[in-house]
Amino acid sequence: MGRITPEVVQQVRDAIDIIDIAAQLTSLKKQGRKYVALCPFHKEKTPSFQIDPDLGLYHCFGCGAGGDAIKLHMETSGDDFRTAIESLAHRYAIPLPADDGDYQRPSLDVTGALEAALHFFARELSRVEMPRRYLDERQISPELRQGFGLGYAPDGWHLLLDALRSKVDMKLLVAAGLVGISDRTERPYDRFRHRLMFPIHSTSGRLVGFGGRTLGDDRAKYVNTSETEAFKKGSLLYGLHQAKRSIRDRGRAILVEGYFDVLAMTACGLPESVAGMGTALTPEQAKLISRFTDRVVLAYDGDSAGQGAADKALPILLAAGLAVEKAPFPAGHDPDSLRLEAGPDTVKDLVDTAADALQLTLDTMTGGGNLGPTEQAEAAEQVRKLLGAVKNPITRSAYARTCAQRLGVDEELLLKAQAAELFSRGLREKADGGLRDNNAGERRILQWLLLTEQPLPEANELPLAEAFLNPSLRKLVEAFLELYRLEGSPPTPRDVRDAVADDPDATAELARLLSGPPPEEDKPPQDSLASLESRWFGRRIQQLQAAIQAAQDGRDDDALRALLAEKADLVRRRHPSMSGRFW
Ligand code: UTP
Ligand code: MN
Repeated sequence: MGRITPEVVQQVRDAIDIIDIAAQLTSLKKQGRKYVALCPFHKEKTPSFQIDPDLGLYHCFGCGAGGDAIKLHMETSGDDFRTAIESLAHRYAIPLPADDGDYQRPSLDVTGALEAALHFFARELSRVEMPRRYLDERQISPELRQGFGLGYAPDGWHLLLDALRSKVDMKLLVAAGLVGISDRTERPYDRFRHRLMFPIHSTSGRLVGFGGRTLGDDRAKYVNTSETEAFKKGSLLYGLHQAKRSIRDRGRAILVEGYFDVLAMTACGLPESVAGMGTALTPEQAKLISRFTDRVVLAYDGDSAGQGAADKALPILLAAGLAVEKAPFPAGHDPDSLRLEAGPDTVKDLVDTAADALQLTLDTMTGGGNLGPTEQAEAAEQVRKLLGAVKNPITRSAYARTCAQRLGVDEELLLKAQAAELFSRGLREKADGGLRDNNAGERRILQWLLLTEQPLPEANELPLAEAFLNPSLRKLVEAFLELYRLEGSPPTPRDVRDAVADDPDATAELARLLSGPPPEEDKPPQDSLASLESRWFGRRIQQLQAAIQAAQDGRDDDALRALLAEKADLVRRRHPSMSGRFW
């Protein structure tokens, strides 16, 4: 990969079109100078997502999401900043400067190596009959093969090597996990041999590796790309890149166990399906799903291994804020095998009639008959743990009620066990609320600074940046004042945007401020200014008082004199006779 320099980041910022990015996620409607749309980050029926194409910023009134085009890309693709810049640079044909010397592992070229292999595997699949027959037998149509980019790694130790050696650096083939180096002979060899190849993509669609299913009698049924920075099983979901659109449109994701199950589900008309990577579901994967929907249907094998995996996944999915349903697959059947045996409609019906997973767990626990006291206590404890994972308090208490009834335990007891957790959660929410109240005043002031058409006072008559408590707002005020002093005239929103472009939180905050209605009054928001001032005054006096105390203790007379003078000056300036000229 080339290096991500500040120049590259700037070039990407200049080239990227927020409308272009947003239009892939949601349908935009022009409204005056701006665009509105249904928010891609939360479910809603009336649009509260707003885009300012001139400033390249978005903000949602519903869920508070906001930022610039890069952030929008990151949040919806799951890319981190570095990957986002890489893939956007690629998309807008911005060249990345070459690496100097031993700088890091070159991952853009690893992508190149993977892509070269992808073409090789696809070519082999069209050339060799055996894997095609295998796919025919499993009823994987040519469209599906195409759609999922399936390929074939031929049966030999050097076939990929020979095909790619002249085009791709050996080091890259090794770094991409396509080629291994023998311990004994120290010679390179193909890692994937006689296997059906499933390309695996990041959420944004970057090729990051492969899973290869054996077509012979190799004891390892699947070989996957080994774990690297770009290929972390715990943060990938197979098929998500293709499925994300359907997941959003249909309002649900279907989670299956195997690569083949994703293909099968898609063939059954359920393209909203994704698979884990053969390892236990991680919170990160659950988070990925929750970016696109709030509802998941578990479609695991009906056998005990599948159900065990489903039980483990349940609290993780609940904790990500997802409502979870479970499709009752018969034991010994996964979506793939059931499709072949009973047909696509049966699979579809099973998914559509999936029942609430918590409720089902409860049914299983309470069984048919009455529970003895020990069993009751155990069940209650299990239920309590699951309930704790449910994010929404209303849903949680509704579940608690049914659970208590079903278990025949006192509802209050069950809830009391929850109380400690709920209490601390409540405190946290309250603390956030307090902060928000402060923010409202600070926001009004900044909004007025940015949007008023009236002449502004001189920069040194405006509130000091340090009077703002919210870090993002403070950063914006700092930038505003600095530009004001530098230029001698108030900066435009665009100038401020450029000045804070490196700070995603400040950028999101700016998007929020600018998407609000312009301040109605032409006058500055006096009450907000007054409370900002008095809060700052209080803190400053306190700080001075502490410093004065310290100077007294240390018998530092010079410092003491200076501090006392400063305090007197502060108090004098706050006197009513100084009206309105505090800062
Ligand atoms: P399965 O054995 O159910 O695979 O493992 P499958 O995709 O349904 O394949 P078929 O139908 O038997 O051909 C489920 C998932 O576990 C991972 C793979 O991601 C697989 O899709 N797995 C399984 C491995 O990573 N390695 C293995 O050896 C086996
Ligand atoms: Mn299978």
